[in-house]
Amino acid sequence: MSAPRILLLDEASPSLRALAATLELEGFRVRQTAEPDEALSAIRAGECEVVLSEVHLAAQAVLAEVRASNSAPPVIVFDDFASLGGPSQALREGAFDALARPISDEEVLRAVRRALQSHALRLENERLKHELDGRATFGELFSVDPRMRRIFETLAAVADSRATLLLSGESGTGKTQLAHAVHKRSARARGPFVEVNCGALPSNLLESELFGHVRGAFTGAVKDRLGKFEQAAGGTILLDEIGTASPELQLKLLRVLEEGRFERVGDTRTRNVDARVITATNVDLEQEVAAGRFRADLFYRIHVVAVEVPPLRARLGDVAQLAEQFLTRFARRHGREVRELSSAARQRLCAHAWPGNVRELENAIERAVLISQGARLEPGDLFPERAAGSAGAHGTQPGFEGWQAGPPDELKLALEGPERWLLLRALERHAGNRSAAARTLGINRTTLFNKMRKYALLSFPVRT
Ligand SMILES: Nc1ncnc2c1ncn2[C@@H]1O[C@H](COP(=O)(O)OP(=O)(O)OP(=O)(O)O)[C@@H](O)[C@H]1O
Ligand SMILES: [Mg+2]
Repeated sequence: MSAPRILLLDEASPSLRALAATLELEGFRVRQTAEPDEALSAIRAGECEVVLSEVHLAAQAVLAEVRASNSAPPVIVFDDFASLGGPSQALREGAFDALARPISDEEVLRAVRRALQSHALRLENERLKHELDGRATFGELFSVDPRMRRIFETLAAVADSRATLLLSGESGTGKTQLAHAVHKRSARARGPFVEVNCGALPSNLLESELFGHVRGAFTGAVKDRLGKFEQAAGGTILLDEIGTASPELQLKLLRVLEEGRFERVGDTRTRNVDARVITATNVDLEQEVAAGRFRADLFYRIHVVAVEVPPLRARLGDVAQLAEQFLTRFARRHGREVRELSSAARQRLCAHAWPGNVRELENAIERAVLISQGARLEPGDLFPERAAGSAGAHGTQPGFEGWQAGPPDELKLALEGPERWLLLRALERHAGNRSAAARTLGINRTTLFNKMRKYALLSFPVRT
């Protein structure tokens, strides 16, 4: 095992550098940043095992993320003095430990070791608990579907080998996350995880993206460039949408996979690949082979271990379970009171076809959490724009008599939903600043005020 990684979130200073040096001497790997956003993406990408953070920087973003994810690393906060509320507030908000400066080396090391141990225990507990629930988990993914469980088992079994994998499935079914989880379970876990979308670039650019180039290799190649294969050295490279690779590129990839070698574009020196290759596709590669668009030899090379991830609509059990998990996560992340799905909402979720699969479900729940007002998510929160359309489509539009008694609740909600959602988005974007939100929406402040009152949004917090 290589050294555990510690993320230091604080402004650079002589004392911080001393702390980093101490930790490195003890065999930890240390990365420092003063940017909460950078820390957040490192945490989400699983690039650290412990976070040591200045208390205010932690409070800005990192703690919400830690509360929302079971596998997020523990956060230890420190503060210059035992400021009122600071560290203890941080503990209530999910920090693992709080240290008041000046902190001795001993104290930091003890706290870090305790955090590492407790985190390992928590992960193990989670795993056992899920096993009892009949849920299978794999990295950040989970499922109650037996086919998904088999996929997790297969991937767990081959994670630590160098075998090339092929993950196929519709967009949003979790292929990238599966690949990431395989990487995290392998001996290369602490190396880089690099993702390349083969469909996003024209073929000549893609070649230099993957293999790099030397200066002067083509017009515009003003300096040497490291390709993704070299960036992924010691780690894993995910070649997404491999089915779109051009014939020339397919040939080069075949060589990489067969011989483990490549050249940078315009270079004569042959280099060795030191990356585990995972491929993903959302088209049926066998059909592409049959149609002559994909090399059969390359297909067999990457088909060594192949899994086909079923679309979300084919695993109904997962719809409700995933929806609940996302609900909890986003309610925590956005500090909302909503706790559960109403049974009508659950039914609507199960009836939806989810063409965008889990990604679509995740987005729908996040949006619903943001616009919901009660403790329970209702169908109108989940499908605000659809509810309006579906009233006609399902023939439930009220007759003239219906209108005299006022529009039915569902229709009223459907019509209000989008406006409320737009208001919320504008307020969120401007941290509650009403003038700025009104400008974004193209209305004046009085109109905004009236609309906020109408939708019970006057208590929307202003963050400074
Ligand atoms: N079983 C699952 N449990 C929890 N989250 C999931 C699951 N499956 C997918 N997700 C989430 O859904 C989102 C989409 O997943 P991902 O990006 O891995 O899909 P993909 O198959 O790679 O899509 P694309 O083909 O568009 O690249 C991610 O946020 C991922 O975390
Ligand atoms: Mg993907």
